[in-house]
Amino acid sequence: MKTLIINIKELLQIREAGITKVSGKEMADLPLINNAFLLIENNLIADFGTMNNCPDGKGIHIIDAAGKAVLPAWCDSHTHIVYAGNRVQEFVDRINGLSYEEIANRGGGILNSAKRLNETSEEDIYLESKSRLEEVMHQGTGAVEIKSGYGLTVEGELKMLRVIQRLKNEYPIAIKATFLGAHAFPTEYKENHAGYIDVIVNEMLPKIAEEKLADYIDAFLETGYFSIEETERIMEAGKKYGLPAKIHVNQFTAINGIEACVKYDALSVDHLEIVTDEDIEVLKNSITMPVALPTCSFFISIPYTPARKMLDAGLPLALATDFNPGTTPSGNMNLVVAAACIKMKMTPEEAINAATLNGAYAMGLSETHGSITKGKKANLIITKPIASYYQLPYAFGSNLIESVMIEGKVI
Ligand code: NIG
Ligand code: FE
Repeated sequence: MKTLIINIKELLQIREAGITKVSGKEMADLPLINNAFLLIENNLIADFGTMNNCPDGKGIHIIDAAGKAVLPAWCDSHTHIVYAGNRVQEFVDRINGLSYEEIANRGGGILNSAKRLNETSEEDIYLESKSRLEEVMHQGTGAVEIKSGYGLTVEGELKMLRVIQRLKNEYPIAIKATFLGAHAFPTEYKENHAGYIDVIVNEMLPKIAEEKLADYIDAFLETGYFSIEETERIMEAGKKYGLPAKIHVNQFTAINGIEACVKYDALSVDHLEIVTDEDIEVLKNSITMPVALPTCSFFISIPYTPARKMLDAGLPLALATDFNPGTTPSGNMNLVVAAACIKMKMTPEEAINAATLNGAYAMGLSETHGSITKGKKANLIITKPIASYYQLPYAFGSNLIESVMIEGKVI
């Protein structure tokens, strides 16, 4: 099965095989070909180049992309797409003056979603989650990480991870599963943190490993949630089961948590709304990808990750949605890219690099996703006719995607 896309106005994010991420100044460059073709064979990118070298399309399915841009589908490396219900009341409470922290302290927040999740059947959670997954695929996402973390009980966490497993099996989009048992302390463990971590380490993890339900491990390293020492216990246990860490850190406070994550070779550190000079230093020369979540900042009115400062220091950066019921009820990567340009002063080139190749890196998928490279998955966005790719973040409220291709097929 072959497909040939012809007359592409701008074919974006062309990379040699083996380039797994881009950092600092390299992020200002988004290699492209004008007036290009792209050949897809067996769900993979087989060839591409300028139209004067276009192969003969006889007998092949042809898509004419005149006036349109083609780019790799978004790689969303941080979501909580699997959840039950919603938190619309907390949204209104925040408008009326309560903070995220105040809402959490009176039993709302993560514990509110956990209660709802534990009361909902696996089938219903699957049905709710699959419609969110389908929505983000149509918004251009071609690879996604999904976390557990609204169970906070052995059964609840397993239920979430099984739903993620089922999504993996039933959809063509690449999905990575992250175990986030350490998302919050259940009320009964409020005064017994070690007791809950024992449950995570001795009860949840062995079952998850046995059923092969997770690829990564996560914890909410934050004042009032998991301390550095507690998170280290979680990362250590994950390591024992071959689960690299991807950690929520520096969302509200900077407490040197990033240093601990780097020490454990975390694949990513996510949120980073508050970043110190020391945090930037420890991230240099590490394998850890910093991940910013600008639509979370937008929704709960907290600072934006200081992207400029980080890129100017030579660091890489990825962008993701954080799609979840509490702090970001949106999985729209187009909006994330626009917010990064508008609020974090990232250039369109930097934002697109962050939302594709670096996003793929942050979920261990950059060998197969995130760029236009021969042999990678044909997961593509084909835009509507546009002036240039600058229009994607510029016209932030418009849907400029005409079609999305996953594994070579238009969805
Ligand atoms: O990434 N910060 C921690 N976890 C989620 C929010 C969870 C929730 O409020 O339900 C986040 O923002
Ligand atoms: Fe999150």
